[in-house]
Amino acid sequence: MILQLLNVKILVVGDLMLDRYWWGSVDRISPEAPVPIVKLQRTSAAAGGAANVAANIAGLGGKAILLGVTGADAEGELLRSVLKSIADVELNVLALDSRPTTVKTRIIAHDQQVTRLDHENTDPIAGADEAELIEQAIGLIGSVDAVVISDYAKGLLTNDLLNGLIAAARVTGKMVFVDPKGKDYSKYRGATMVTPNLHEAADACGLSINDPQLVSNAGWRLLSELDLDASLITEGANGMTLFEANGPSTHMNAVARKVYDVTGAGDTVIATLAVAAASGNSLVESADLANIAAGIAVGQIGTAIVSNEELTSAYYAVRN
Ligand SMILES: Nc1ncnc2c1ncn2[C@@H]1O[C@H](COP(=O)(O)OP(=O)(O)OP(=O)(O)O)[C@@H](O)[C@H]1O
Ligand SMILES: [Mg+2]
Repeated sequence: MILQLLNVKILVVGDLMLDRYWWGSVDRISPEAPVPIVKLQRTSAAAGGAANVAANIAGLGGKAILLGVTGADAEGELLRSVLKSIADVELNVLALDSRPTTVKTRIIAHDQQVTRLDHENTDPIAGADEAELIEQAIGLIGSVDAVVISDYAKGLLTNDLLNGLIAAARVTGKMVFVDPKGKDYSKYRGATMVTPNLHEAADACGLSINDPQLVSNAGWRLLSELDLDASLITEGANGMTLFEANGPSTHMNAVARKVYDVTGAGDTVIATLAVAAASGNSLVESADLANIAAGIAVGQIGTAIVSNEELTSAYYAVRN
């Protein structure tokens, strides 16, 4: 195989999040309740959810066209400014009055997370906002090489939006890669590939997480029931398995050397799959690259953005 990752354009549609970090120190317990008092020293912010998928695509040398929503609030402005600082992420982000920006705030003292504060409204987006998103999604399809759907179950990906988007992608021959959530995957019918982790696959297929045949049962079942080209079950430290329509299943062992931080590995997987497949690699080659990229991401502290150069050199190191 000849590795190629090109400057492809990927439409990313999904739940945007702001990952916020408040760093401080603790030297006493509150007199009000048995909790530590954190003295705030600095703050930082990063793109989360679908916004992190877009950042990963840009890191790999692609161009991400990001479609989603924030609230009309300061956190939404902060997320926009984080995203604007990343070259090759183009924003199509609506600011809605009807909901807050989805924010996960980690309060960290002495390198330990003290608590996490989540702010979100996960009601499905409806009415004129939904119609506007569907119109934008369909309008953007023509100008991209492939589509990623990044579902964090925060309300953006309604059945009508998914149906419209997947149908438009089919008509124009664009591949659709879905990082799924929830029990009912019929909303993803007709996509190119879904990439659940073990828990998500068990949930979607009504199988036990302890089922020894979980991976193959879920992989084949999702493939046949949803009219996909492939399904990819990610198995954490055990790597991943790809199931292809009318083809074999291919297991790939994890390739991480050291594991520091596994959060965001799924975002790296879906971003790499889309960039690799849109660059002309086969689905099995793309999954192989995604597995190697995820191995790099889990070995990084903090940001899990893998660069084109890092992935290319890791690929040749693994293959030789
Ligand atoms: N502990 C680990 N050791 C080695 N590789 C790992 C580990 N955890 C994850 N990976 C790599 O990352 C890929 C995706 O991880 P996982 O199956 O945990 O996805 P996920 O649960 O969707 O991740 P996320 O937390 O981002 O949602 C795996 O297929 C594997 O390649
Ligand atoms: Mg995931």
